[in-house]
Amino acid sequence: LFESDVRQREVAPARISVILGDLLENGLLSDAVELILGRIRTPAEISEALDGAVHVQECVSEALDVKKSVFKIADQLTSASTVIASSSSSLTCSMIAADIRGRQRCLLAHPANPPYLLPVVEVAPASFTSDHAVARTFSLMADAGMTPIHVHAEIEGLAYNRLQGALLREAYCLVRDGVVTADDIDRLVRDGLGRRWAVIGPFATAELNTRGGLVAHAARLGEAYGRMGTERGQNDPWTKDLVEKAAEQIHRQLPPERWDDNVRARDRALMVIGEALGRASLPGTDDFN
Ligand SMILES: NC(=O)c1ccc[n+]([C@@H]2O[C@H](COP(=O)([O-])OP(=O)(O)OC[C@H]3O[C@@H](n4cnc5c(N)ncnc54)[C@H](O)[C@@H]3O)[C@@H](O)[C@H]2O)c1
Repeated sequence: LFESDVRQREVAPARISVILGDLLENGLLSDAVELILGRIRTPAEISEALDGAVHVQECVSEALDVKKSVFKIADQLTSASTVIASSSSSLTCSMIAADIRGRQRCLLAHPANPPYLLPVVEVAPASFTSDHAVARTFSLMADAGMTPIHVHAEIEGLAYNRLQGALLREAYCLVRDGVVTADDIDRLVRDGLGRRWAVIGPFATAELNTRGGLVAHAARLGEAYGRMGTERGQNDPWTKDLVEKAAEQIHRQLPPERWDDNVRARDRALMVIGEALGRASLPGTDDFN
């Protein structure tokens, strides 16, 4: 771990130690805290941190010039087989690494926060990134217990923040118009949408909420959702072809002939979460510290 701010560098092991202790207490560590801490070095020189690295995960400040300079150094100080990945939430690999000599081994590997609890990571290569670098990153992330998602275009916000943004934009509209309060929006998501999304995504939700799956769901509600979009200046109808494409993709995980089994599996997973949440102290409640 290389951090240019001396104070941050000095406090990093203690901060990591607290998180590791919480993970251990919640049954989420397979090794002892001290053993894991012993694997993390915090050298004062970036060259020492990069020495022998097989993967560099850049997560410095979200500023293009800072990222570019770190990529340049990483390119110079690592071997030709090292993958150099940026965590950036708003910049693309093309913006950061187009001028780098070893640009074929550069890509974006965008985590979600906090990355030690949310396993998803978006892998977004540039057109100059090699297939080998993408495959290496996928296997490394999967070996580390992460869920790598291939993002096929260098669009602003990638997919994760676009989804998050869609919900947040509507939430702001509802608060602005006095329809619901901000804290009630959070309760709606925490105790409704989000609780369900912890076990299945929005497509699987539509698939399993309606007998007949996505196609039946779109036939029943597509026009209403279209009108809500138009109200917000959006015109992206769920055409027959689009719904069929999504249904075909979702049926790889949820074949229609197993619909009843999958509905039950969803319910049982929600029961596990409901039970676990009963034991959790949530932010905003009295017993949270
Ligand atoms: N915070 C999130 O929720 C989140 C989620 C996904 C991705 N990201 C991405 O991760 C990156 C970091 O985000 P953050 O919220 O931790 O930012 P931050 O600004 O809080 O922290 C950045 C750290 O980088 C250090 N730094 C700056 N220049 C450096 C250099 N040249 N060498 C070494 N260290 C340097 C800073 O001292 C600072 O401690 C950003 O690209 C961000 O888009 C953040």
